[in-house]
Amino acid sequence: MILTDGNEYKQGISRILITEEEIRQAIAKAGVEIDHEYAGKPLLLVSVLKGAFVFLADLCRAVTIPCEIGFMAAESYFEGTSSSGTVSISYDLKQDISKYHVLIIEDIIDTGRTLAIIYDMLKAREPLSLKVLTLLDKPDRRLVEFKADRSLFTIPDHFVIGYGLDCGEYYRNLPFIAEYNAGTGD
Ligand code: IMP
Ligand code: MG
Repeated sequence: MILTDGNEYKQGISRILITEEEIRQAIAKAGVEIDHEYAGKPLLLVSVLKGAFVFLADLCRAVTIPCEIGFMAAESYFEGTSSSGTVSISYDLKQDISKYHVLIIEDIIDTGRTLAIIYDMLKAREPLSLKVLTLLDKPDRRLVEFKADRSLFTIPDHFVIGYGLDCGEYYRNLPFIAEYNAGTGD
């Protein structure tokens, strides 16, 4: 659906859940932690497109030690609510990750299905270490057991938009995280 009506767009934003300032502070803290944990080590920040692109852009600028950045793009196929499925990688990392400490930067862990598969895929390439940092965690929605090494915000089971997260490809450019209002029409 292509959306051009500004009023309809605004109606989708139900209420702000996490403010710009709260995000900024949490990222500054995470940057300091990464600086300490990975000082003197070859660090690669890996992001799975598209949802984490805003988080990665801000987080990498809160890191002051040398680091490289890599992207992957993945299409997930799951049947209904089953926890098994396949993820096909449409764009892969260029780096040989066996030479790096890899930190996966994720927007949100919801059912955990996509990340569980990507984690195993990267683990098989034998990086020096492999950890996951997620901006948001919705533990109530988990179908596959998966725990991030660090999560900046734990949120209830509500669909959220903004700061990279979309609904139908819109709202990624909101500077805050908001609850999505599906309205009465759909
Ligand atoms: P899962 O953990 O395999 O269910 O997949 C998580 C992916 O679904 C995330 O990377 C998001 O792209 C998307 N997603 C999950 N929950 C939300 C949400 O509340 N808002 C927007 N996207 C979401
Ligand atoms: Mg994502």
